Amino acid sequence: MAAMSNDLRLLQFSDPHLSARADAVLRGVATRPALEAVLRHARAQHTHVDALLLTGDLVNDDAAGYAGIRELFGAFGKPVLCLPGNHDEPEAMKRELPAPLFQVGGHTDMGAWRIVMLDTCVPGKAHGRLSGTELQRLAAALDSAGNRHVLIGLHHHPVRQGSRWLDSVYLQNADEFLAVTDRSSAVRAMVWGHVHQQFDSRRKGVRLLSVPSTCAQFLPHADQFALDPSPPGYRRLTLCEDGSIDTEVIRVPLQVGQALNQRAAGS
Ligand SMILES: [Fe+2]
Repeated sequence: MAAMSNDLRLLQFSDPHLSARADAVLRGVATRPALEAVLRHARAQHTHVDALLLTGDLVNDDAAGYAGIRELFGAFGKPVLCLPGNHDEPEAMKRELPAPLFQVGGHTDMGAWRIVMLDTCVPGKAHGRLSGTELQRLAAALDSAGNRHVLIGLHHHPVRQGSRWLDSVYLQNADEFLAVTDRSSAVRAMVWGHVHQQFDSRRKGVRLLSVPSTCAQFLPHADQFALDPSPPGYRRLTLCEDGSIDTEVIRVPLQVGQALNQRAAGS
């Protein structure tokens, strides 16, 4: 679909899991070369981009990895909207990803849309939870949205995805979260990372979307942890002025050396 001039064009990237070492490999994928390949593809394919949305696990428990995030995403020269995942260090993230190009948490208004970024992290835990403060901040952001349409970004999935192990590390107080969003008529979509796979559903008219990781993927519907040899990817989101959304996931096949064990991971 051709984007109209007032439509907002976002690209969502998630779970790059960078480390200080440029040659770090995680679950069979060289994380930095994989991210570079995904970003090369995105820059070549999408010449009109209004903002980037990064939905957590930007680093792999290593704050030194934020330098790579700053370098690689900063190169777009577009606003980079960020929120933390369970492998992030929220304070270091705020320090290492500075304004004006980067924004960590909070919300931002762009055209007819308000983008709300939530912090669902619980220190030392893989599952997510929204604090009372964060739920209040969400409610206030929805109440003051006026005529804007709202897209909510968060790391942990607020609905179960039919995978026993992943659904044990989802947003534990999803009921409270959904009770807040249900009170607003402005919410059009929720987008998340964490699950390293594509998901596209709908609940009460609200689009529910996840995105593949820019490195290794998790096998959908698996009872126990299992990798999926599918290539990394990212999501294009065109947020239309009338509140509708046009979106797709784009996969980027890796070269030899970027995916060291992809075949082994799938067997
Ligand atoms: Fe995660």
